[in-house]
Amino acid sequence: MDVTFTIRRYQPEVRDDPYYEDFEFEAEPTDRVLDCLNHIKWQIDGTLAMRRSCQTGICGSDAMRINGQNRLACKTLLQDVGSEVTIEPLMGYAVIKDLVVDMDPFFDQFRRVKPFMMNEGSDPERERVQSQEERERFDDTTKCILCAACTTSCPVFWSDEDYVGPAAIVQAHRFIFDSRDDGTAERLRILDDAEGVWKCRTVFNCTKACPRDIEVTKAIAEVKQAAMWGRV
Ligand code: SF4
Ligand code: F3S
Ligand code: FES
Repeated sequence: MDVTFTIRRYQPEVRDDPYYEDFEFEAEPTDRVLDCLNHIKWQIDGTLAMRRSCQTGICGSDAMRINGQNRLACKTLLQDVGSEVTIEPLMGYAVIKDLVVDMDPFFDQFRRVKPFMMNEGSDPERERVQSQEERERFDDTTKCILCAACTTSCPVFWSDEDYVGPAAIVQAHRFIFDSRDDGTAERLRILDDAEGVWKCRTVFNCTKACPRDIEVTKAIAEVKQAAMWGRV
């Protein structure tokens, strides 16, 4: 099939303003958007800047706007988006070059919620045992690949870069509801704040954008409940 990719370019070493550029080529309907971007980079214009690594939906590095929706390029088939495809960088973070945005603020918010196991007392002699039900409690949020598709689709985040954002709350949820972790009170102190969970207006864009089908808005609601009444 004949396809046209319209890509938002920003090449600060060449010109100051962003612009859109069309690329026309042939592709298969079963090609992924990432295959097409690789084709453009390798065969047409080597200056195209983008992030990608695993190419299998695991590393989270190739989230971008595809026809206006946040998606992973490596998980999006051409036949699902049509022959005219507009590619733009994620919204809300500064663009460094073409599709590459500055992810430092994203990972700063990630680190704020202490995304690691915290335990009081001395180490146990054997592993910390957990029942299947206890593990299931936070199973959904363990699937996060930190792609930022949720946070950069949230209108609250677009208007307030200090909002901790859905991705960081998902990470906090993963530990808050882990029965082996003792850091719940500390994480909830951080999130029980005007720039924390209470900034969420239940817009659901984050849930729609998540390529891992995590129930992001539900996880945020559970953290809000935990902030009010404690972990249950
Ligand atoms: Fe990406 Fe989903 Fe994790 Fe958000 S919750 S960073 S959309 S995987
Ligand atoms: Fe934003 Fe998701 Fe809440 S889109 S407002 S974080 S439900
Ligand atoms: Fe790793 Fe797409 S390249 S998720």
